[in-house]
Amino acid sequence: MTTGDYLDLFDASELSRERFSDLKDNSFWNNSSEKELKLHRIHAYPAKFPAFITSKAFDYAAAHNIKVKTVADVFCGCGTVAFEARRNSIDFWGCDINPVATLIATAKSNSYTLKKLEDYYEKIMIAFPRASKKVDLTKSAIERLNYWYHPEQLHDLAKLLNAINGTVSTRSHYRAFFLCAFSNILKSASRWLTKSIKPQIDPVKQPANVLAAFSVQFSSMVRAWEQTDLSSTSTTKIVNANVLEISAPPKAIDMIVTSPPYVTSYEYADLHQLSSLWLGYASDYRDLRTGSIGSTQHSLDFNREVKRLNRVGSEIVFSLFDRDRAIAKSTAKYFLDMQQVTKRCYKFLKPKGLALFVIGNTEYKSIRIDNAAHLSESLLGSGFSKVRVAKRRITNKILTPYRTEQGRFTRSDTGRHVYGEEFILIASK
Ligand SMILES: C[S@@+](CC[C@H](N)C(=O)[O-])C[C@H]1O[C@@H](n2cnc3c(N)ncnc32)[C@H](O)[C@@H]1O
Repeated sequence: MTTGDYLDLFDASELSRERFSDLKDNSFWNNSSEKELKLHRIHAYPAKFPAFITSKAFDYAAAHNIKVKTVADVFCGCGTVAFEARRNSIDFWGCDINPVATLIATAKSNSYTLKKLEDYYEKIMIAFPRASKKVDLTKSAIERLNYWYHPEQLHDLAKLLNAINGTVSTRSHYRAFFLCAFSNILKSASRWLTKSIKPQIDPVKQPANVLAAFSVQFSSMVRAWEQTDLSSTSTTKIVNANVLEISAPPKAIDMIVTSPPYVTSYEYADLHQLSSLWLGYASDYRDLRTGSIGSTQHSLDFNREVKRLNRVGSEIVFSLFDRDRAIAKSTAKYFLDMQQVTKRCYKFLKPKGLALFVIGNTEYKSIRIDNAAHLSESLLGSGFSKVRVAKRRITNKILTPYRTEQGRFTRSDTGRHVYGEEFILIASK
């Protein structure tokens, strides 16, 4: 049944992929008159979702008589939901498998005083000229960093990292702030082709000066904190872990607000490699692909596991199979993982709790990968009694609806199609 701009599903047999495409835009979820806080932009993050979706999710729950005291994000990324929960005095629990994500989310969720931030910054600047150029990293990490940096930036970054580590103790929560600032200048100081979703060298790039970039980054982070002015006493727990393996949160959750990864889109471990290598999270960044949902680098016993796919999942995987077996297998693995995620979400929630997912469809060699329809079926199959679907416009992608081979947005229709819309799925336990 369709109510207003929503499609309400109660049974997986009612589900057809066409019903999703026929859905009209839902103006409630489209945009917000509120300007996004600077804090949400302190560190670049692929596929970060707009912060206003979280406040709308809380408004939606209130309008449906659900009191949200604890919210969770099982793919917490750079902490968009974590911070918005805190702004609304709601307790938060979240996890992400990527340590760079949880560093940013933690940095955003801590409280700082301006005086202490400035004192630390000054001490780091004083320590910098005498700091060592040597970094305590494995040989393979250093080799990979040599590939990405000119010697000048490589040495200055090593000195800056040593200055931070020598100034801010590992026990201090200020350390996450400064490591997050360090992490966000790593791409501009490198030879990395900016704004590309594929890691590649830009042969004509003039990498940024390390100290100048760090100073600009520090000032913009301070301004972002000054704008927030939080006095909330709610609690925030962020864990670096795989959602498929982590133990359930200590308290049952009233609402989940999350946006899952997609298959064939981002290889998060590869995109965060500079931060992962510098911060010692991995000596080979590819190790961080393990367990990352949507990665194309998984092995799967296809013949045995394919039977566990739900109906929409099997339809899509079989249509991909004729075009590209490897992609069909990665998609099967992605769908199977997401089927487990919905089971976990059901378990984490209180009775009558809500799980809200923001999810878009993707495409591979002209075959539509209907993530939203697959996820809806998976939610119903995991015990949720109803899934309500809304469609929203992604405004910044409409003018450039394709991606080039290098992963850049373009208007040219020779590229890979990028959808200008995504779905909000609200599942009721
Ligand atoms: C679409 S992003 C989430 C972005 C987030 N909403 C934000 O605003 O920053 C998906 C996230 O899922 C994470 N992820 C992938 N596999 C995971 C897993 N097995 N367990 C937990 N997180 C995972 C990725 O590292 C990525 O940060």
